[in-house]
Amino acid sequence: MSEENISLLQESQLEQLVDQLAEEGYGIINHFFSASEVDAVISRFQGLSEEGEFKKAGIGKMQNFALDKTIRGDYIRWIDPNDMTEITARYVARMKQLMEYLNRTCFLGLKDFEAHFAMYPAGTFYKRHADRFQQNAHRVISTVCYLNKNWKEKDGGQLRMFLPNNEFDIAPLSGRLVCFRSEIEHEVLITTRPRYSITGWMLDQHSSLTFL
Ligand code: OGA
Ligand code: MN
Repeated sequence: MSEENISLLQESQLEQLVDQLAEEGYGIINHFFSASEVDAVISRFQGLSEEGEFKKAGIGKMQNFALDKTIRGDYIRWIDPNDMTEITARYVARMKQLMEYLNRTCFLGLKDFEAHFAMYPAGTFYKRHADRFQQNAHRVISTVCYLNKNWKEKDGGQLRMFLPNNEFDIAPLSGRLVCFRSEIEHEVLITTRPRYSITGWMLDQHSSLTFL
């Protein structure tokens, strides 16, 4: 991975993503990570997993926090700005670049970013929901970067999007980044193999994890 010195996104990738996001409420960059970068993230995943760093994800925040595997079955590990490997730093640098581009072109007033690694074991899913809700009103843009090599239709785990007049699925392909407005409802369909991603949210206020 170390020979790849183009560590930021190209202007044309940003432009295309942001145009689609502005017009349709969601956008995709297919080669956010190269194949070797995906390998690097997966090995980081394995390291953290061996250290017992992954925890069952909950629903809601603080007093409303609940663990309910009939709603979501993933295991997560938050990315800590003080504890970053080269590949995590590369991910964060690109997300910041995207945030700055969005602020410049769409005046979204994004101030911070929070992200976690996520793993869905075979047989799990995340039921229809929105990421911006009463107790979590500061998420403006949701992002998911997928890390599933050789993904096939039968593997499942697609991201189902519920736009006002359009319902469709996005395959969780390796290296692909999907962004959408956080109030849009979406769902993770049941996966038949372990499903890996990094999920991140751009916020309109500073978070406790402060990257900016
Ligand atoms: C989430 C989520 C979508 C995905 O973590 O809130 O909806 O495709 N993830 O992983
Ligand atoms: Mn979500």
